[in-house]
Amino acid sequence: MIRSVVRGIGSYLPAKILTNQDLAAMVDTSDEWIVQRTGIRERRVAAEGEHTSDLATCAAESALEDAGMSPADIDLIVLATATPDNTFPATAVAVQERLGMHHGAAYDLQAVCSGFVFAVSNADAMLRAGQGRRALVIGAETFSRILDWSDRTTCVLFGDGAGAIVLEAQEGKGTIADRGVLSAHLRSDGRHKQKLFVDGGPSSTGTVGHVRMEGREVFKHAVGMISDVITAAFEATGTGPDDIDWFVPHQANQRIIDASARKLGIARNKVVSTVVRHGNTSAASVPLALHEAVRDKRIKTGDLVMLEAMGGGFTWGSALVRW
Ligand code: UT7
Repeated sequence: MIRSVVRGIGSYLPAKILTNQDLAAMVDTSDEWIVQRTGIRERRVAAEGEHTSDLATCAAESALEDAGMSPADIDLIVLATATPDNTFPATAVAVQERLGMHHGAAYDLQAVCSGFVFAVSNADAMLRAGQGRRALVIGAETFSRILDWSDRTTCVLFGDGAGAIVLEAQEGKGTIADRGVLSAHLRSDGRHKQKLFVDGGPSSTGTVGHVRMEGREVFKHAVGMISDVITAAFEATGTGPDDIDWFVPHQANQRIIDASARKLGIARNKVVSTVVRHGNTSAASVPLALHEAVRDKRIKTGDLVMLEAMGGGFTWGSALVRW
């Protein structure tokens, strides 16, 4: 049985740090409110002229270096983003060009904050279907470009960044002892599409628009949706919370992360959290957190890692990966 095994990981954060104190000078908010309600203390903001494709290319190069591979080894680029450089072509094509890669296929995938989990699942399916042997899976965002900087209910939450992994098709035994993506469960429910959305677009307004969110409504659904797809992953693989070595959730809010882990019975010391320094980087949040935990040697080869995300749509999903 073909398994999509993680061969390398990388990430990139823009240099500019925006602190809660900086935001308190811009809108009616405080460090205390933001920390208490979200756990966020700072986030990164892309420089003028620094685009999603720039962040994504840096993350991709770092993942390729970690894998000991060159762009020539890659057959597929799947880039999850809700903040593409342009309406079209896909930002993935810009990354492909920057990598000097003229073969294979590159495309974007749009599932907002769930984008990376959706992209991992999509690339895994493509590799298992024989559509190439190696895929670069990237989550990259410049949410700072679509924030309304006068709206305190949203502008304090998000940040910019990118993360990437290299997946390689390898022969596995078909058991959960295999390395690679062991399960993926994706969901969406468009009845919630107005609870977290951007109020512009090429077909509706001809403008880019700004993020709008009913935060309390999103919060209310988040833990249940996250638990739904993680329980599905446990059932599909015959695993449970005690089998998980690391839980790498979407980094939107520390309270959502804590409540999800508690509900699922996942021990606190297995939870990887970077929300305090990254804020919510949407599709980039899971690979950024993953890379941090790999870099500091928490996540090691053979570890069982549960990824999850939830966001606009609503979309939500989980992926169980043996590292
Ligand atoms: O990645 C996709 C998913 N997105 C999320 O997961 C976000 C989910 N939602 C959340 O994380 C939380 O709902 C928020 C962090 C957005 C808000 O926290 P909350 O505890 O749900 O606060 P709230 O929206 O109920 O607002 C409480 C109060 C309100 O004032 P009143 O009506 O009680 O007087 C808000 O106007 O806090 C006020 N408020 C603020 N105060 C200071 C809202 N934003 C701010 C702010 N600074 N930045």
